[in-house]
Amino acid sequence: MALVNPHGKEKKLKPLLLSGSELEEAKSYAKTLKKLSMTSRETSDLIMMGIGAFTPLEGFMGKNDWRGVCDNFTMEDGTFWPIPITLSIDKEMAADVKIGEDITLLDLETSEIMGIITVSEKYSIDKAYECEKIFKTTDTEHPGVQKVMAQGDINIAGKVKVLSESYYPTKFKDIYMRPLEVRKIFEEKGWSTVAAFQTRNPMHRSHEYLAKVAIETTDGVLIHQLIGKLKPGDIPANVRAVAINTLIDKYFVKNTIVQAGYPMEMRYAGPREALLHAVFRQNYGCSHLIVGRDHAGVGDYYGPFDAHKIFDEIPKNALELKPFKMDWTFYCRKCDGMASTRTCPHPKEDRLVLSGTMLRKLLSEGQEIPDHFSRIEVLAILKDYYASLSKNDKVDVKLNKASRGEI
Ligand code: ADX
Repeated sequence: MALVNPHGKEKKLKPLLLSGSELEEAKSYAKTLKKLSMTSRETSDLIMMGIGAFTPLEGFMGKNDWRGVCDNFTMEDGTFWPIPITLSIDKEMAADVKIGEDITLLDLETSEIMGIITVSEKYSIDKAYECEKIFKTTDTEHPGVQKVMAQGDINIAGKVKVLSESYYPTKFKDIYMRPLEVRKIFEEKGWSTVAAFQTRNPMHRSHEYLAKVAIETTDGVLIHQLIGKLKPGDIPANVRAVAINTLIDKYFVKNTIVQAGYPMEMRYAGPREALLHAVFRQNYGCSHLIVGRDHAGVGDYYGPFDAHKIFDEIPKNALELKPFKMDWTFYCRKCDGMASTRTCPHPKEDRLVLSGTMLRKLLSEGQEIPDHFSRIEVLAILKDYYASLSKNDKVDVKLNKASRGEI
């Protein structure tokens, strides 16, 4: 059996990253053009298009796509897409941009040339409307809302050429992988059913359990961690990668796991983000996406299983990938092992609720970590990391309902 097809009508990966002489020519050309700086979110979206993870997108979205995606998950040409992928500029610069013009895209933080856009449209959006549709809130405490509200007032759309993957291939050389590379690994292993496990945390026992449950019924699991930007207080990807590698090495059967990192920035859009996770995991060759409790959530903006429900609200044939819906999982002292609300009959008092947020809070405050929360080898790595932080580097970690175990 073959792997799932990439997303979109053409069922073909579309990496927009140039290479060889084409890349060299484009780099010289880019130096001659007007420059536009992109936020880190826009840069990471561009790189996702570059490596084909956002197939079939060919550039930043126009107004009809933006509206269709917000209103009913659908682009103008009928393609399913759950979150707008847009590029914004301020009004003054927009006045200077002509339709049909090529503009060089820079990464705001490094000023590196990242790509070229051929502008096909300039338009304004109702940002609050986007936030309400995508994040289900306009509260500016929400880190994803904050970014949309802070973006420029005009969006520009158009096809892009991608000229750089920035620092990812060097900084994360052991785990950074493009969809084509991951698909090749799966094919070499003879896998066709693969469940992706999304994470932005070092893996605690619940994470390990979710991956192992999926291994029971698939050829293998892709532990797919985010290596793009996170919010303050989250554990950096390089520390997390070491922790996850150690866990795989010590607690998983060889040849059941592939570990990889992808360069997207977290939006914390909960259910909508779960759908975006599904779209690009299909591009990476995964037939399933593990969706547990409060997937890609932040604070108390989403119900613990809203990200399950949304898969029943999208058009039936939107995706080839299917969600692997998993209930609340925890360590139960009476069961004497990992369990979930579907398998454990015991009361709350017997259960140790596991959450990445709780683990980060305990570690940053130097508190004892309860037994069964995390594997000792993983804890040792995390403790070293927290010990290396100065007082100023430590961020107060706020617990939400999910991390306090309130269902
Ligand atoms: S996320 O923002 O990337 O979703 P995290 O790394 O904590 O955060 O979660 C990774 C995956 O594990 C998500 O699918 C999430 O729903 C799931 N998950 C985390 N903790 C639990 C838990 N205790 N029970 C069930 N699912 C969980």
